[in-house]
Amino acid sequence: MKDRKIVLVGTGFVGMSMAYSFLTTGGIDELVLVDVDEEKAIGETMDLQHGLPYARNKLVIKAGGYEECADAEMVVITAGTAQRPGQTRLDMTAVNTKIMKSITENIMASGFDGILLIASNPVDLMTYVAQQVSGLPKNRVIGSGTILDTARLRYLMSEYLGISTSNIHAYIMGEHGDSSFVPWTHAYIGCKNLLEMLDENHRDLQDLNEIYHQVQQAAYEIINRKKSTYYGIGLSLNRLVRAILDDEHVILTVSCYQNQEYGQEDLYIGVPAIITRAGVETIIKLKLNEVDQGKFDASCETLKEIIHSTIK
Ligand code: LAC
Repeated sequence: MKDRKIVLVGTGFVGMSMAYSFLTTGGIDELVLVDVDEEKAIGETMDLQHGLPYARNKLVIKAGGYEECADAEMVVITAGTAQRPGQTRLDMTAVNTKIMKSITENIMASGFDGILLIASNPVDLMTYVAQQVSGLPKNRVIGSGTILDTARLRYLMSEYLGISTSNIHAYIMGEHGDSSFVPWTHAYIGCKNLLEMLDENHRDLQDLNEIYHQVQQAAYEIINRKKSTYYGIGLSLNRLVRAILDDEHVILTVSCYQNQEYGQEDLYIGVPAIITRAGVETIIKLKLNEVDQGKFDASCETLKEIIHSTIK
């Protein structure tokens, strides 16, 4: 296995936003672009290569086939049909399940034995499909989950409170979609419980619930204006790749396989987890209050219904 060799399957806007971001952040040594449209992969590769003289550090970039996965440490899958105006992410389940199955089979045929990162939507369901088809250990198949939702929440809360995002410890859990939620009782600003802080600063939870609504609607608002989203998710994938390669032991909200940590099993969904070089090392078990546990269970039921009706 080649250290810090990443294969990207899907050279659309999401995948290429992640690819491009590595020229400025560094953190990987080799990036191979794979796409069903081989000419596109070659064109994207050439375009990135020409920026390498100005990149943060040395980086090998090339176009290739699935055989390149054999010695890759990580494969990132962004390929699939994108959400269009008026669609939900769940609307793409049937078409993207077929695509995900084919891609995963091709990856595994190479002898790949690393970590699979999935961003294709609906990401919780596509991650489930990728794990079922690949047979890789469940902690080595990870979906981007609510990593971007949490980033959106932290950004909007930072603007509202006038405090750096680095001190905003609030997380979005559940489906990367309409049924996600924020366990506000587990939100902290620095070392201060958020709800206590709101009381002292005469701000109320209604404003924060409005902020959550903006997060929940963000993708729709962007897609209605520019047809798709890609910079936020591209940078979120970059963050997740580097957290794994650097063995950061950082807590990120990603789509993890559930095995009763929150009373649910046999599905992937967004929860806070410790991310290491091994993938998902531990799922953080928050003690959810009755309302939040109900939201979590409802989000799981939304996904489980589709798993049983469309995927299994
Ligand atoms: C979004 C896509 C990545 O939320 O689902 O922008």
